[in-house]
Amino acid sequence: MKIKNICCIGAGYVGGPTMSVIAQKCPEINVTVVDLNEKRIAAWNDEDVENIPIYEPGLSGVVAEARGRNLFFSTDVDEAIDKADMIFISVNTPTKTYGIGKGMAADLKWIELCARQIARVATSDKIVVEKSTLPVRTAAALSDILHNTGNGVKYHILSNPEFLAEGTAVEDLHAPDRVLIGGDYTTEEGSKALQALVDVYAHWVPKENILTTNVWSSELSKLTANAFLAQRVSSINSLSELCEASGADVAEVARAIGKDSRIGPKFLQSSVGFGGSCFQKDILNLVYIAKSFGLNEVADYWEQVIIMNDHQKRRFAANIVKTLYNTVSGKKIAMLGWAFKKDTNDTRESAAIYVADYLLNERAEVVVYDPKVTSAQIYADLDYLGSRSEEENRNLVTVVNSPYEAIEDAHATAILTEWDEFKKLDWDKVFESMLKPAFLFDGRRLLERNEMEEKGFKFYSIGN
Ligand SMILES: NC(=O)c1ccc[n+]([C@@H]2O[C@H](COP(=O)([O-])OP(=O)(O)OC[C@H]3O[C@@H](n4cnc5c(N)ncnc54)[C@H](O)[C@@H]3O)[C@@H](O)[C@H]2O)c1
Repeated sequence: MKIKNICCIGAGYVGGPTMSVIAQKCPEINVTVVDLNEKRIAAWNDEDVENIPIYEPGLSGVVAEARGRNLFFSTDVDEAIDKADMIFISVNTPTKTYGIGKGMAADLKWIELCARQIARVATSDKIVVEKSTLPVRTAAALSDILHNTGNGVKYHILSNPEFLAEGTAVEDLHAPDRVLIGGDYTTEEGSKALQALVDVYAHWVPKENILTTNVWSSELSKLTANAFLAQRVSSINSLSELCEASGADVAEVARAIGKDSRIGPKFLQSSVGFGGSCFQKDILNLVYIAKSFGLNEVADYWEQVIIMNDHQKRRFAANIVKTLYNTVSGKKIAMLGWAFKKDTNDTRESAAIYVADYLLNERAEVVVYDPKVTSAQIYADLDYLGSRSEEENRNLVTVVNSPYEAIEDAHATAILTEWDEFKKLDWDKVFESMLKPAFLFDGRRLLERNEMEEKGFKFYSIGN
């Protein structure tokens, strides 16, 4: 089975980059990425590839190479579905905000809508690929909808979760640690469908890095991978507090344990807490699934990862208030960084949002600078929390275009995202332009304590 036309539903942080790389590496396959969001699609089609809606190092170049050749972005979802042999579903699966499972389960509304649309439109057999992160056994529901509401055509459902990390998406897609494909290898037709997707990736991924499993293992592996990664962050963050209390340094502890080959050095950087659209959502989903099987101890074990992360964000903000003589009311706090990590403009679940919210509840005046996040996004993130009126958010929060503008006359500066440019700031100039004592809170362990203290800062760094 040779794939000629791919459609991907969802032109977001996953659909956009993954399909751009598939198109780049498989020039004989036509790839059409569709989305309901007209503005997003228009931005993907912007003549200037620097204006595509997602900032990722290297992505503009990939889009420039393939767009118009065999990579297309469109809002005509029906047409793309009908033409495709293989359809990726890469829509959002956020935590439910209503009803059963509220605050825990994944909201599969958009997945189901896609399935119903595919069933309505398709007039030939399709391979449907779950690219979105989904609860284990979602493929069974998809199959049910497709086969019961369709036009009598056949569907094969594969699970192909995405492991890219934002900020290094293109690098990760070009050289993935592994590609995981779940399918029904017990039947001849199922095996053929599985092989068709293996063949797509085999254009550039070494065969030994393409793993095939049954569908349920594949679905569950994605949630598990994110849970393990987030657990490491919460583990080192829990120790950062103990380091602060005891005089140990979390970076030294991380280096010492990371040298143990059984532990390894990666993902041991302590910080103000993890963010991003995935870790929290996927762990909550795992907790919910465990609970729904009656596995309460399993659920409690993983929930603690989230509890620790919330604590880390809260204690960073609380420490700012405490250090500033127990009040930040009317004080100007400069926040450097709003994205959940460097090299992305994604702000979903960013620690900065929660730190700002805490400080605003204490009546601080917050000034934000981020090199890639727009002011509209920053206000939208705060408004979404519903902690105060939109008008109050705009009165209390100012978004500026330069770090020096943010810092001018600030009582305190807090680093919330590890953007490289913050390391290179003229910290003498920063010190000069801040009110004294100049308090500096490094939530990303970006700066050297000795150097900053020599300049005169009252310096606080996580875990040290
Ligand atoms: N962001 C990541 O780093 C990452 C990594 C791995 C996996 N994932 C998973 O991938 C999935 C997508 O994540 P994302 O970050 O790309 O989300 P996103 O919100 O950036 O993109 C999803 C897009 O799907 C579109 N959409 C929703 N329903 C649609 C429909 N019926 N028809 C057409 N378009 C529709 C939305 O308009 C949106 O543009 C999620 O399940 C997520 O958990 C994300």
